[in-house]
Amino acid sequence: MDVNVEKQESAPLQSLDEWEEDLLERYPTKEHVFRDYAAEVRPTVKEFYRLNHTYQTREFVRAKKEQYCQLETRKMSVWEAMEFLNTLVDDSDPDTDATQIEHLMQTSEAIRADGHPRWFILTGLLHDLGKVLCLYGEPQWAVVGDTFATGCRYSDKVVFSEFFEANPDSKVAEYQTDCGVYEPGCGFDKVDLSFGHDEYLYHVVKDYMPLESLYMIRYHSFYPWHREGAYTHLASEQDREMLNWIKEFNRYDLYSKVDVRPDVEKLRPYYEELINEYFPPQIRW
Ligand SMILES: [Fe+2]
Ligand SMILES: [Fe+2]
Repeated sequence: MDVNVEKQESAPLQSLDEWEEDLLERYPTKEHVFRDYAAEVRPTVKEFYRLNHTYQTREFVRAKKEQYCQLETRKMSVWEAMEFLNTLVDDSDPDTDATQIEHLMQTSEAIRADGHPRWFILTGLLHDLGKVLCLYGEPQWAVVGDTFATGCRYSDKVVFSEFFEANPDSKVAEYQTDCGVYEPGCGFDKVDLSFGHDEYLYHVVKDYMPLESLYMIRYHSFYPWHREGAYTHLASEQDREMLNWIKEFNRYDLYSKVDVRPDVEKLRPYYEELINEYFPPQIRW
């Protein structure tokens, strides 16, 4: 296959941020005037969701978890991972768009400004580090995008749910009942959500961060649940208890993209100390 065709095919988004910018349009703040989301969505974003919904089968998800969640890909410190993520070269504009580290720090600084506990601030700094999957060669549709449950009926609350038609799992009868292969109330820990940066980072940090933080990290892209109320029949008691933390985190993730770019070098000592409070010098990725 022609390299450019392949690139276009696997990377319709100009940058990973394009997905997040689209989320802002789908979930605008009160100050934004209402707009017709479906009519105005960018073709690149739509194409991205077509690929994501077509190729994220249950089998794909399980294979990627097997491949990455044993943490045998790399060893690096949290700060090294931030610098590594910053090497992600895409088609975004370096003069106007925030870098990956800047997005992480905008999020953590907004959390810090509101007086939240240190683990919460650190969660803001960490939350998108799973995007290093792109640097391992994974396509955009396996790294970002709203996550959804595989192995059970697709929810029509998932954005562009019509694209699930092309997913081979839509023809598997066992996967197309309300609970599919799962038990009611089994908890999302047991559910194979579509694979991406949330799930991967959860495994990287699960021995180091408190439960609330792990929920924020693992489910921050699970908009169908935390924003649209889908899949509640699979949620456990603990999932329900943690939901408000995810919602609280989402405010900072989506709405902290301010014009002022954080001074990364100036903030670095503060964050290195914070990282050292929770993490050893090297961790497995
Ligand atoms: Fe994210
Ligand atoms: Fe984010």
